[in-house]
Amino acid sequence: MTTPTKIIFDTDPGIDDAMALLFIEASPALDLVAVTTVFGNADIDTTTRNALYLKQRFGLKAPVFKGTDKPLTRPRNPSPTFVHGENGLGDVELTGLVAAQPETKPAHQAIIDLARENPGEITLVAVGPLTNLALALKADPEVARLLKNVVIMGGAFGVAGKPGNVTPVAEANIWNDPEAADQVFTAPWHVTTVSLDVTTQVIMSPAFMDALEASAGPAGAFLNAISKPYAAFYGGRDGIVGCCVHDAAAVAYVIDPSLFQTRAGAIRVVTEGIALGQTCQKVDGELFGPSAWDDQPVQAITVGVNAEGLLKLYAETMGA
Ligand code: BDR
Ligand code: CA
Repeated sequence: MTTPTKIIFDTDPGIDDAMALLFIEASPALDLVAVTTVFGNADIDTTTRNALYLKQRFGLKAPVFKGTDKPLTRPRNPSPTFVHGENGLGDVELTGLVAAQPETKPAHQAIIDLARENPGEITLVAVGPLTNLALALKADPEVARLLKNVVIMGGAFGVAGKPGNVTPVAEANIWNDPEAADQVFTAPWHVTTVSLDVTTQVIMSPAFMDALEASAGPAGAFLNAISKPYAAFYGGRDGIVGCCVHDAAAVAYVIDPSLFQTRAGAIRVVTEGIALGQTCQKVDGELFGPSAWDDQPVQAITVGVNAEGLLKLYAETMGA
C-alpha cells in the first residue's frame, strides 16, 4: 500500500465542510495532520467550535488550530445562516457537545510549521475563504515551496455548472476574501481549484444520504441529518433535489484526480467593482496583449467531473 498523503484541512464548518472532513478521516489514502479553521460559513468562534465538536464526536486525532476572524483588508460579510444555519451545522442539535479549546498557535503559523517539519509532503486542502493561506504566505513566503500541493474548493470559471453562487459571477469562498484569493492563486505553489463548474454537477440526493446513514454508522447518520436543511436550501433556490458536493469534491480530487478533467493557466481574482470575487483564468498557451496574467504561475482549474465516480468513491470510503 502507498503511504497516505498528509493533509492539512483549512475549513469553515459548515455543512459540506463536515462532509469533507469525515471523508478525509475515513480515507485510507489520506492522513489528516491538522485542521485549521477560518471564518466563512459562520464566525470564527462558531466554525472553530464546530471543528472541535466533529473532532470529539467522531474521534479525530488531528489537532485543531484556530484561524483568522476576518478578511485581509475588508469587513467580514454576514454569515450565510440561510444556508448553514445559526450554528453552522444546519441547526441540528450538537449532542454530547463539551467545551474544548483549539491549540494555542494560530492557524497560519501551524501551516508554516507543519510545512517546515514535513517539506514536500503536505497537501493543503482549503475549503473556506483563503485568508489563513495568505497570512502564511506573508509571514513566511518559503511556505509556498514547502507544500506538496494546494487544493482549493473555490471559484467559478463559466466553463459549466454555475458561474457564481453569491453574485452572478462570484463563488462564496473567493468572494469572502478576494484579495487573499488573488494572492494565493499567484503564489509559486501548485494550486488546483475545484470550482462550481464541477461541484454543482455532483449532487447527493436524499436517497444517497439515506443509504449513507445505513452504511456509514454514526457519521452517516449525522451527515444525513445535517444534509436535510442544506438540501432544503438548494431545493428552494436552485430546484435541486439534494445537495451540491462542494468541499468533499476537493478531497475527492486529492484521492483520485482521474475523476476530473483540468485546464492549466494563470488565475486572477477581481478585487473591485461589480465582478468582485470573480475568478478568471488565462488558458495556458493562448496569446493576448500584455495583461495582469503575465508572468504568473500556471495553476489548474477543474473543467469536468465524473459525478457518478465521485459519489461512489464517497459512499465506499465512508461505508468501508
Ligand atoms: C463553498 O462556500 C461555502 O458555503 C461552502 O462550505 C463551500 O466551501 C461553496 O461555494
Ligand atoms: Ca467550506
